[in-house]
Amino acid sequence: MTERTFSIIKPDATKRNLTGKVNAVIEDAGLRIVAQRRIQMSQAQAEKFYEVHKERPFFGELVEFMTSAPVVVQVLEGDNAVAKYREVMGATNPEQAAEGTIRKLFALSVGENSVHGSDSQDNAKIEIAQFFTDDQIVG
Ligand code: CMP
Repeated sequence: MTERTFSIIKPDATKRNLTGKVNAVIEDAGLRIVAQRRIQMSQAQAEKFYEVHKERPFFGELVEFMTSAPVVVQVLEGDNAVAKYREVMGATNPEQAAEGTIRKLFALSVGENSVHGSDSQDNAKIEIAQFFTDDQIVG
């Protein structure tokens, strides 16, 4: 079934000029980038986006990292896009990520792990709505 997921190319990747290389892995996997914008995330945006993690010990570090340099927010579309993108990203910790995945190829650590992807269709809808209006998504 065709669905959409939300993606962020994180500061460790944008700083190393890897946006195009990450996008190539996404597109080679058959996902279509149907919306994309490079932004400087504000502290308020990052805190809201990662609200579910606010009790975690790494929350402050996570917000600081996500606001430390530009990110690229994206909407990806394709068959089973949520699960497909999680497969393409690889495990959260790059040491556990499978060969050929974005995190195995590019991530530096569990924090500086190059990309975010939604973990469910419900969260994809919530996350997409935080950064894009419907008319900005062109499938
Ligand atoms: P992401 O998919 O963006 O969602 C939550 C993020 O928290 C996760 O990717 C990791 O980058 C980050 N994270 C998870 N565990 C840790 C940790 N132990 N230290 C720092 N960041 C973490």
